Amino acid sequence: MLTHASLAQALGTRPFRFFPSISSTQNEALVWLKGNAPQGAVVIADEQTAGRGRMGRIWHTPAGVALAMSVILRPSPQDAKQVFMAGAVSVAEMLEGLNIAHVSLKWANDVRIGGKKVCGVLPEAVWEGDKLQGVVLGMGVNVRVDFGDSDLAQTATNIETALGKSCDRTDLIVRILRRLDEWTPQLGSEALYQAWRSRLDTLGTTVSADGITGIAHDVTRDGALIIRQADGTDHMIIAGDIS
Ligand code: BTN
Repeated sequence: MLTHASLAQALGTRPFRFFPSISSTQNEALVWLKGNAPQGAVVIADEQTAGRGRMGRIWHTPAGVALAMSVILRPSPQDAKQVFMAGAVSVAEMLEGLNIAHVSLKWANDVRIGGKKVCGVLPEAVWEGDKLQGVVLGMGVNVRVDFGDSDLAQTATNIETALGKSCDRTDLIVRILRRLDEWTPQLGSEALYQAWRSRLDTLGTTVSADGITGIAHDVTRDGALIIRQADGTDHMIIAGDIS
């Protein structure tokens, strides 16, 4: 069970805020970021009533079955472009560390097990004029979310299904933050780019985005996807969804 006490013990000196229920950890972290939150401060909730996904979508976090966390980072504007990579790679490494097989990333930042989404990552930057205040890195992980026989069951999974046993969410949080603490000083690095790129299951497959269909040829260090069309023309997709 996620509690303030268990998190306080597990997180040590890291500043954190825990909410049994909140609209969105992302919103709380954005307010904290605009205040005095230090690098690495984290907002965690057991339940979100208005969780936000990428591209304005709703992200469901029912009580007791998932991880919803938003980490405050204060990178340079240049390094901020790789924050989403650090989030996705950290979650992927946490899963690999549990000996879960077939962990991969779908461009740009979905973490998958066996081709099914287990985690979504949402980076949100806060600017004051032309000065970057920081980035809130949101991560939503399905731990034991039951998709039943809904359409989502075709495309989404959870950690406990992959593990075949129950796991402790506090332990998962600690494992993710440990990996993130390793990657944060390496934002902007070749090592982080390669750790992200090497896990992408998208490269080499046929994809469609922005009305363009072609082979996912490569990714840039900023995270853009290069789609090569049949006539050899390359198109760069900065953000969005691929199918
Ligand atoms: C996606 O659409 O794939 C990204 C989902 C990100 C969800 C997380 S859960 C914690 C944080 N709080 C939110 O409201 N969203 C992010």
